Amino acid sequence: INAMVDAQQTADISTISEKTLSSILEKNRTYSTQGKVADYIPELGKMDAKAIAFSVVDQNGKVFNTGDVHKKFTMQSISKIIALMVAVRERGEADVFAKMGYFGSEKPFNHFSNLETTGKPLNPMMNAGAIYTTSLISGAGEQAFIKVLDMVRYITKNQNIDYSKSVYESEKSTGHRNRGMFYLMKNNGLISGNEDQLDNYFKQCSIELTAEDLAKIGYFFAHQCVRFDGDSKYKSAEVAKLIESQMLTAGMYEFSGEYSRMVGLPSKSGVGGGIAVSVPGKMGIGVFSPALDQHGNSLAGYHMILDLVKQYNLSIF
Ligand code: DON
Repeated sequence: INAMVDAQQTADISTISEKTLSSILEKNRTYSTQGKVADYIPELGKMDAKAIAFSVVDQNGKVFNTGDVHKKFTMQSISKIIALMVAVRERGEADVFAKMGYFGSEKPFNHFSNLETTGKPLNPMMNAGAIYTTSLISGAGEQAFIKVLDMVRYITKNQNIDYSKSVYESEKSTGHRNRGMFYLMKNNGLISGNEDQLDNYFKQCSIELTAEDLAKIGYFFAHQCVRFDGDSKYKSAEVAKLIESQMLTAGMYEFSGEYSRMVGLPSKSGVGGGIAVSVPGKMGIGVFSPALDQHGNSLAGYHMILDLVKQYNLSIF
């Protein structure tokens, strides 16, 4: 009976249209005036706080876009899920997690957490674990970064994607906490390479894409690493489960628990204002609005996701 009531109250996802998305966007546009654009990386501070975009890739791989659909922004922390995929495919999950945890945390994304006590990063979503994960990808110089970039290009089927040199330079010259974590992990014997490995992390954070590209990334992990056009070259239920479980546990940082209660979907945010969301077995969602909440998550982006989830009953719980 409850299921029938639910079915009556929420719409079928096959009815999602550009109109659905644009009415949700317009309803939540005002949140972009309440958040704050990240300026701890000076180049990011130049972003247009009013830019906003909303994309969905539906069950059949069909794309729906609304808002500033051509606006590019940097992936920032969303790159961490791609680096994790590349590292796990290369070395296996057991090796990648031998010196790193699967923990959630109440600490913000740039916290050193227990690097000083157990020596192990809490998870691959916070900066310490992400810097470590990228350092595990093989290859000299920028090879590890190129592998991450190539994977983003593959998943989005968009060979034009590249990184922003100016954001990269800005991160490199101001990322002192990240550099501190890098050297602490080097001191602890987790990292053996030189600063090229840290640069690879800064470069992956600086990869530029659109909300549509994020929706395609969300779709990919929602579909066992099968691409939106059906290409199954990287198909792996296990890799998708790992990535989605980390997204759910730590993808929204210290807000992840509350977010799971409210939205109930594996999601990964970045301080560029993007959020990539997987609706397992169904679809991908990509949002962009650079005004952030106090946790570093897009405020209008969160509210657009929340409305779509309510309207179509998308929570996994
Ligand atoms: O390490 C940093 O500070 C950034 N490049 C990435 C952080 C980030 O996106 C955190 N997310 N919300």
